[in-house]
Amino acid sequence: MGNGIAHVSALSGFDTILLDLNVDLLKRGIATIEDNLQRQVKKAKISQSDMNIALGKIKSTTEYNNLSTCDLIIEAVIENQSIKEEIFRSIDSICKEQTILASNTSSISITAIAEVTSHPEKVIGMHFMNPVPVMKLVEVVRGQKTNNNTTNTVIEISEEMGKRPVECNDSPGFITNRILMPMINEAVYCLMEGVGTKEAIDEIMQLGMAHPMGPLTLADLIGLDVCSNILQVLYKDLDDDKYAPCPLLEKIVHQGHLGRKTGQGFYKY
Ligand code: CAA
Repeated sequence: MGNGIAHVSALSGFDTILLDLNVDLLKRGIATIEDNLQRQVKKAKISQSDMNIALGKIKSTTEYNNLSTCDLIIEAVIENQSIKEEIFRSIDSICKEQTILASNTSSISITAIAEVTSHPEKVIGMHFMNPVPVMKLVEVVRGQKTNNNTTNTVIEISEEMGKRPVECNDSPGFITNRILMPMINEAVYCLMEGVGTKEAIDEIMQLGMAHPMGPLTLADLIGLDVCSNILQVLYKDLDDDKYAPCPLLEKIVHQGHLGRKTGQGFYKY
């Protein structure tokens, strides 16, 4: 999702720095941004010159120190609380006092992440949806100490990125995944128990509920590891068995089939 966020940020005119673990991942991120911008050019959503200007606004780095002048830093790493906390500690030590630190987490407590920083009032959830260039929503999540100035700034920036920010409180999975993940998990149970084929499950939800894609196709788009991690957070933090990931989901994840990004999930790509 990081490349999608960088894409909309740069296309909205913000100077953008993409940070990743190594140069290969950065190259892959930039290549994805180029492909998706090109797709928008082909559809005449943006001009070739818009695309070139946007690409010119993106720099890439593997060094936290290069983020020291940023006004807003959006973290989009895997759904793992200790990794996120480690990153927020590192960013906190190099950024300006007034920098807003946002997390694109889909489920983890913003209040907990904020606690590892020296300015928890500047920490907020800025949860984009996949594919970021297309989906309108940003779920804006206030931690217990997030102040109004941080929230209002993030709402304004989201709007400048062409998104519709909607606020919610800090609770496991927030609103998006508290509702979406049980539906996806139930679809996997239907598959495991032989209630229907994967195609039937998806087609029924797509045609019957007017969803743009069926739940198993959507899970492949989101990433099966991401779905599993979010369900684990809901299960643990809400302390309710109903959120436990379906064994079939866990099995496929353990096989290394994580959805579109690995070329196989419930479907082959
Ligand atoms: N970048 C830029 N543009 C893209 C794109 C991308 N990555 N992916 C698709 N598009 C554009 C296409 O160019 C196309 O543009 P036009 O409308 O101008 O033709 C448009 O999006 C639709 O794409 P397609 O015609 O290729 O395919 P589609 O009609 O099947 O739509 C979809 C694809 C937008 C992904 C649609 O199926 C959809 O909305 N699916 C549901 C997505 C969803 O629910 N996302 C939320 C997931 S939850 C999440 O992300 C949060 C979490 O915490 C887990």
